[in-house]
Amino acid sequence: MYKLIAFDAYGTLLDVYSMGQLAEELFPGHGQALNLMWRDRQIEYTRLVTMSDPNPNGSKHYLSFWEITIRSLRYVCKRMSLHLTPEYERRLMDQYAKLKSFDDSLEVLKSVKQKGISTAILSNGSTEMLATVIESNGLKPYLDKVVTVEDVRLFKTAPQAYELLLKAFPVKKEEILFVSSNAWDALAAKWYGFDVFWVNRLNHPFEEIGEKPSYEGSSLNQVLDVIEIN
Ligand code: LAC
Repeated sequence: MYKLIAFDAYGTLLDVYSMGQLAEELFPGHGQALNLMWRDRQIEYTRLVTMSDPNPNGSKHYLSFWEITIRSLRYVCKRMSLHLTPEYERRLMDQYAKLKSFDDSLEVLKSVKQKGISTAILSNGSTEMLATVIESNGLKPYLDKVVTVEDVRLFKTAPQAYELLLKAFPVKKEEILFVSSNAWDALAAKWYGFDVFWVNRLNHPFEEIGEKPSYEGSSLNQVLDVIEIN
């Protein structure tokens, strides 16, 4: 029986790929490619920072996820020879700050809480950016805690990042169901020892290394079915 359902934020509760529309408006014909490369580069930077100094007291290369998001946007625009004016950067980052949640995010959080199970976010995001986006989507009343890697200055997939959930809640590892739409995050959380629900909205194959997630579904809603049978 799960006592805590912990959700990844970007891509899982929040629709990062919706940024493609604005990117397309600003850079016609390049929106989708820019958006995909931006996301990849952002995650690549979090890995570089973490792996290059995996000190349990934090990486000396640590930059907030907000800063990493800006730097990766700048890099990708240069790489694609797109002229990122300060105004375009501001517009893209303003939208990033207020990313829309997926249609079912609020309902799922609400239903989990109604069942008497705790809810949390565990995210690479910085405290401030998470607070803003949670507020703008009205998710705050349905989250017991927002846990951010800022506390350890190591990004997921460092074990110290997943461990934060055990420090934040008086629960055992096996009482946590971790939910992520990012296959790499689902994989690493399973390696860490959590049961994992992989939200596979785009019907992608799972990674070729690691164990398969404990559960998989095409929407966040299906997390509720998993709770029913446990
Ligand atoms: C998060 C990003 C990585 O941790 O999805 O919220």
